[in-house]
Amino acid sequence: MKTIILGIESSCDETSASICIDGKVMNNIIATQSIHEEYGGVVPELASRAHQKSIILVVESALRGAEVKFSDLSAIAVTQGPGLLGALMVGYSYAKSLAFALDIPIINVNHMKAHILAHFIETPMPIFPFICLTVSGGHTQIVKVNSAIDMVVLGSTIDDAVGEAFDKGAKLLGFPYPGGPKIDEYAASGNPQKFSFSESQIKGLNFSFSGIKTSLLYFLRYHLKNNSDFILENLRDICASYQKHLISMLMKKLVLAAEETSIRQIAIAGGVAANKELRIQLKQLSQKHQWMSYIPEFEYCTDNAAMVAISGHLYFQNKSFGHLTDTPQPRMNF
Ligand code: KG4
Ligand code: ZN
Repeated sequence: MKTIILGIESSCDETSASICIDGKVMNNIIATQSIHEEYGGVVPELASRAHQKSIILVVESALRGAEVKFSDLSAIAVTQGPGLLGALMVGYSYAKSLAFALDIPIINVNHMKAHILAHFIETPMPIFPFICLTVSGGHTQIVKVNSAIDMVVLGSTIDDAVGEAFDKGAKLLGFPYPGGPKIDEYAASGNPQKFSFSESQIKGLNFSFSGIKTSLLYFLRYHLKNNSDFILENLRDICASYQKHLISMLMKKLVLAAEETSIRQIAIAGGVAANKELRIQLKQLSQKHQWMSYIPEFEYCTDNAAMVAISGHLYFQNKSFGHLTDTPQPRMNF
């Protein structure tokens, strides 16, 4: 009998559903919420309402696309946390109701672990144990992945996530939310050596990104005093220079983690892993240090349900099921 998993993701501002059949992801339907752009960040209440509008359509579209009926499903995997409570609640309540009605198990998925397990959607897949640098809008972590269910955090940010540093930096430069992809785009034709920002010197495998963001703020204030067109005239170079420092901070820790663990299987995951320069630099570092590196396809870096569905498939094999009395966990521990 086939194992058919429906994956549902609604932790932030994407409503997404995906079908995975015997470990093969069939599709990845995503409804992105553009309503937040005008507010400069995700507005939780608006996110919940937008999820409510989309969830049924998105799930039906995933089932239809994979030619699967509700009655064919083996289990429903759903993001339990971390994320926005109201947003999680929409996907989670929907998943629980469906699991109850169909009398099939629910599988609780941690969003950050799902980002890592996105590496098992396509080949080549990393070999355990591997190191994964997980970089998203809310988290920045270095994780030692011993197996699909055994992961150990070796380091994480003590303040802002790197995605936040991208987005807040982008906001200072006048880009709409989320500005990370805009910095990536403008940096591509800018000079990364033109300006310098202070990188945090925190020891060990933890990160700190609040200082560099403040460094950009003061830098802009200083130059705008003398020239109100400073940003306009230097936008590409500022993006390239700021991005260079953010990536350098990530790469230094990744090198340290590889050295400390003697692991040469190195992966990146999460929304910021879509960054073109980060992808290039990881490949360059891999050649230098003789790592095997793994980078998910773009669509599996940013939030998506395919990573939840594949996690569901892996947990299903371990019979790791949730209960209908479980609830969403906005601050879910790793
Ligand atoms: O994983 P994700 O989609 O959502 C969370 O779990 O947070 O990550 C979103 C983050 C945002 O901060 C967004 O600006 C950033 O990923 N991001 C990027 C790029 N694409 C998405 N940052 C830099 N360059 C990109 N190309
Ligand atoms: Zn995410």
